[in-house]
Formats: sequence, structure tokens, C-alpha cells
Amino acid sequence: MDSIRIQGGRPLKGEIRIGGAKNAALPLMAAALLTDKPLVLRNMPRLADIATMGQLLAQHGVAIDLAEPADGVSGRVATLNAAGVDNTTAPYDIVRKMRASVLVLGPLLARFGRARVSLPGGCAIGTRPVDLHLKGLEQLGAEIELNQGYIVATAPNGLIGADVVFPFVSVGATENLLTAAALAKGTTRLRNAAREPEVSDLAECLVAMGAKIEGIGTDTLTIDGVEALHGADHEVPPDRIETGSLAMAAAATGGDVTLLGARPDMLEQVFRTMGQAGAVLDVEPDRVRVRCPRVVGVDVMTEPYPGFPTDLQAQMMAMLTRAEGASMITESIFENRFMHVPELTRMGANINLHSRSAMVRGVRRLTGAEVMATDLRASVSLVIAGLVAEGETIVNRVYHLDRGYERLEHKLAACGAQIERVSR
Ligand code: EPZ
Repeated sequence: MDSIRIQGGRPLKGEIRIGGAKNAALPLMAAALLTDKPLVLRNMPRLADIATMGQLLAQHGVAIDLAEPADGVSGRVATLNAAGVDNTTAPYDIVRKMRASVLVLGPLLARFGRARVSLPGGCAIGTRPVDLHLKGLEQLGAEIELNQGYIVATAPNGLIGADVVFPFVSVGATENLLTAAALAKGTTRLRNAAREPEVSDLAECLVAMGAKIEGIGTDTLTIDGVEALHGADHEVPPDRIETGSLAMAAAATGGDVTLLGARPDMLEQVFRTMGQAGAVLDVEPDRVRVRCPRVVGVDVMTEPYPGFPTDLQAQMMAMLTRAEGASMITESIFENRFMHVPELTRMGANINLHSRSAMVRGVRRLTGAEVMATDLRASVSLVIAGLVAEGETIVNRVYHLDRGYERLEHKLAACGAQIERVSR
């Protein structure tokens, strides 16, 4: 199993190009199931989760073609053709590897009137039920049973538009309902919908495929169902979480890094918080330069977009471990997303957990250690800690990183980090 070995203590300096967003690409790929015409997705990141979604769609009968981009720098071009779908079951073996597999439920049900999708179960960051997805689809007329660990959904007469009010914000439930409603009869209104940029991007792609959606970017989405959707050619936006992670790595090491091909407008709250913590951010529409002469403590609370994202909480904590003063970090989205805390503590961080909040008291130095993490964002926070720690850090279970960060060690090494992947 691969590990990442880091010799810490070097400020990052240079330029890094940001890849396509994993969490935008995954629902876009699932949306290919809505039509029998090809959907072309550009700037696709090379990531394990994208490969898993490809595997899932292929076993449904989707033909997938991958090509290198004409410009040689952006991500690959995927052409997905769901004309030959002959299987509406998403099996446990694939769904257990990646929860986002549940995003095929809405499209399959809307186009074929049936779907059988394994229940994803819990994961390292929490129990993560899918009850909002199921209740919403039921409101659109689906009949849903749970049978032997599977969601068995049918809509023999098609889905019918309805008013769905989410009791709290869910990215995945909004995406599943949006795709389902695109082909439902009549009008669907999704209230308290997620406003994450990946949701808006999915909605834009659906519109390009012929869907009628209003309110994109707001918490109320109104969808007038259409009979059929057609193909489209859509570019995956840059990954705001990769951007934030690398910005925090640059700041934590006291470096000077310019992140190219980014969308700083999707990170306003993150950059505001980083600024309060001492980072200097020069923002342009497609890039951001990050410097940080000194880190100072700041309070952070994760919230749905446009608040501070839970997917950057662990990285922000790593940055704050050496801050002057204390920081209170509160996780309000997931109940168990502090798996990085014991590992950061092993590297010398001073962190006390009180339920959903972590008190981080800045220390003068971290020291390298052998560490391991249980999820994607926790792993990258340990890489950031390794970059600032004195001595050698080994981050185990690198497969978590490969799910969501493309060539991370190459990108960091190009900015002067002493980092390498080792097979053990
Ligand atoms: C998406 O997960 C992202 N995944 C996550 O990114 C991200 O952390 C999360 O949104 C929050 O921003 C993808 O986009 C593929 P939710 P999702 O439904 O859709 C609870 C990463 O590191 N909930 O918004 O699964 C849930 O347990 C990943 O890239 C229910 O109770 O998240 C959580 O506490 C990890 N019932 C909260 O809502 C439901 O039916 C928000 O979850 C649905 C969700």
C-alpha cells in the first residue's frame, strides 16, 4: 500500500494548476443517464472516485469514451452515452466504495421508471443517511421499498412534479431531486435546496441538456419537467476544495503560491476566514496568490454554502495548529468529522475536542510522525501538517488522497516541498 513521505519545514513557492471539481463531476456523470444522447464533459479530473463512477455507469450499460484535452493542460474529455442502458441496479460492491453512487437513483428512476440502488451505509465521517433523497422522490410519486440492503424504487406511471421542502440542506438530496424532476410531469419546487456551486453547475448542465430550471444559485429551484433531454457539451468547473486545500498548505508553510485556473468567487467565505488568520490573498477572476507572514488564531464554523465548507475544516485546522493564539473550530454538518484530531495531536498539536467543537491552541512547532487518516480531507490535512512539521512525516492510507486529489505530491513537489510517494 502506498504512503506519502514528507520532509517538512520548507515554504511552498511557485504556481499550481487546479483540476476539475470531483464533486461537480460525479453528479454530472450520473446525469448522463437522463438521455439517450451523448453528454460530453470537459476538464474531468483523473481521480479514483471518477473511475468508480465510470465503473458504476459502465455496468448500467453507459458507453464511456475518454480523450486527452486539445489544450494539453485541462482535464480529460469524457463522452458518456446512455443509449444502451440495460441494467438499473447499482450493486453494493460499487456503492460501498463511494457514497456518491446514490446519485444514479434520481436519473434512473426518472428515465426508466425503476431503480435498485444499494443503500450506502455509514462512513468514517458519520452515519450519513439518505432519507431526504427517498422522502423527496416519494413526494414525486415514487414507490420505495428497502429490500435486502437495497433501495428498490419504482414509478410505473412516471414521476409527477411536487413541492419538496428539505428540513435541512443536503447537497446529494438536492442533486438527486433536481435530476429526477427534470423529467417529471409538471412543476417541482425544491425549497431549502443546497446552493453549493456544484449544484448550480449541475443545474446549468441540465439546462444545456434541455431542462427548464429557474432559481439556479438560490435556495428555491423550480423545475418544469420536460419529456426528454438531449446531449450537451459541458465543462467541469475548477475544484474549490482543492483550491482551498492548496491555499491553506501555502499559508501554513509561510509560502508564496499562485493557484491557476481557480474560481476564487466560489471561496469568498474561506478566503475571508484565511485573511482573518493572517493570510494575504491577491484574488483575480481565475487565480489567487497566497502568502502568509504569520498565522493567527481564528474561529471557524462549517456551514452549507456560502458558509465555510466542511470539506475544508480539517485543512484549516492543520493551518491553525501553529497559529499565535487559540482557534475554535465547530463542525456543524457531520457528527464525526474530527478523525484527524488524534493524528494532529500525535504531531504535537494542542487540540481539545468538546462534542462538535475543537479548541486549537497554537504551538510553536509540530514534529513529523507516522500518521494515518480515515477519509479524504483528513488525509490532506495530515499532508499539510507534514509540510510544516520538523522532520519526517509518513502519511499512510494514501488511497484516500487519490480519491480526490490529482497528483498531489507532484503539485507540491513542484513548489519546493520534499514529498514523495513510496510503495511499502
Ligand atoms: C456532499 O456529500 C459532498 N459529496 C461531500 O464531500 C460534502 O462533505 C457534503 O456534500 C457537504 O458539503 C459530494 O458532493 C459527492 P449532504 P453529501 O447530503 O451530498 C445529512 C468530500 O470530502 N443527511 O449535504 O452526502 C448528512 O448525514 C465529500 O469530497 C441526512 O441526514 O452531503 C450530513 O450530516 C465528503 N439525510 C448532512 O445531511 C440525507 O438524506 C449534509 O450531507 C442526506 C444527508
